[in-house]
Amino acid sequence: MVMRTEVAIVGAGPAGLLLAHLLDRAGIESVVVETRSQEYVASRIRAGILEQSSVDVLTAAGLGDRLRAEGHEHRGVYLQWPGGRHHLDFVDLTGRSVWVYGQTEVQKDLVRAHGGPVVYEVTDTALHDLTTDHPYVTYTDRDGVGRRLDAAVIAGCDGSFGPSRAAVPQSARQVYERTYPYSWLGVLADVAPSTDELIYAWHPDGFALHSMRSPTVSRLYLQVPNGTDPQTWPDERVWSELAKRLGHGQDGWTLTPGPITEKSVLPMRSLVQTPMRHGRLFLAGDAAHIVPPTGAKGLNLAIADVARLAPALTALLRGNGSARAERYSDDALARVWRCTHFSWWMTTMLHATSDPFDAQLQLSQLRWVTSSRAGATGLAENYAGLPL
Ligand code: DHB
Repeated sequence: MVMRTEVAIVGAGPAGLLLAHLLDRAGIESVVVETRSQEYVASRIRAGILEQSSVDVLTAAGLGDRLRAEGHEHRGVYLQWPGGRHHLDFVDLTGRSVWVYGQTEVQKDLVRAHGGPVVYEVTDTALHDLTTDHPYVTYTDRDGVGRRLDAAVIAGCDGSFGPSRAAVPQSARQVYERTYPYSWLGVLADVAPSTDELIYAWHPDGFALHSMRSPTVSRLYLQVPNGTDPQTWPDERVWSELAKRLGHGQDGWTLTPGPITEKSVLPMRSLVQTPMRHGRLFLAGDAAHIVPPTGAKGLNLAIADVARLAPALTALLRGNGSARAERYSDDALARVWRCTHFSWWMTTMLHATSDPFDAQLQLSQLRWVTSSRAGATGLAENYAGLPL
């Protein structure tokens, strides 16, 4: 039961499928293996904001049509704290914008576009012989048959809990990690957004975010303590807390509640594993790094990794030199650390702690980024994404 391909890709989320698609366009064969079902991967609710460079990568890969037709371009975001709401215009500040287009939609476009083999619902995935030039992946397929996939290269796109990250020997990797003392309660609601662009709200009772998925679907988040059970947040409590933190009634603004269709608690952490390459294994996306959600960098960083990895592997496998593959980890990590810092900074600027000193620093920082063009431009450059 041995199969052979050029690139064995572990994980069929956006990183794995985008890599498979870009390699396919360059004439490189791949096989993707995934532990979840196709339906599960397609329906899990994730981020919804694409930075300019992600839109550019997807468009260049032939995946931009539905994004442009059904996605929504935003010029910037609102930052607020009790007493005031301030708009930051990224287009005016940096010439770059962001797009509201859910990861679920990106995933659908990728599944539709990629014709190559994707094996879902595998178990016991393991990576072998990574420091030789004939690495391979073993797994059990959904019928219980043991399989072996031989490849020239393995791409680990299987998230922070997948086997790829852990396949790098402890002596060859370093892990940098930060956990945060709060989580997000996220809800999806069938109601038109009460705002034209996202609102990031600092509040003494905790952060709140008003985001959206479409003109009829809102996505909202509340800072909650770690370990919160979503059952303790009935819909009425969610809406009244959102109304308070988002400033319902201030300057005539109102939050319109609606039916909540999904509710879940997201823990927040930062993690970077270096290097992003070990022999013939290359890591991309959450397999190498996790950011807290504030600032919406997770999916964008995965797309940036893959945009770098695909041409590096193409050159390596077509005899056009290994220089890009050698540089992949260092090049990717420069952007990873920028986004890791930005996500940490947005998170710590906006989330309530029990320390009044923190609160005063946060408010000072918010006043500065909304009143100084230099401060605003720094936030805008990072949020809209530096060019790849
Ligand atoms: C969303 C999530 C984020 O973390 C963020 O900063 C903005 C938007 C979202 O899910 O829509």
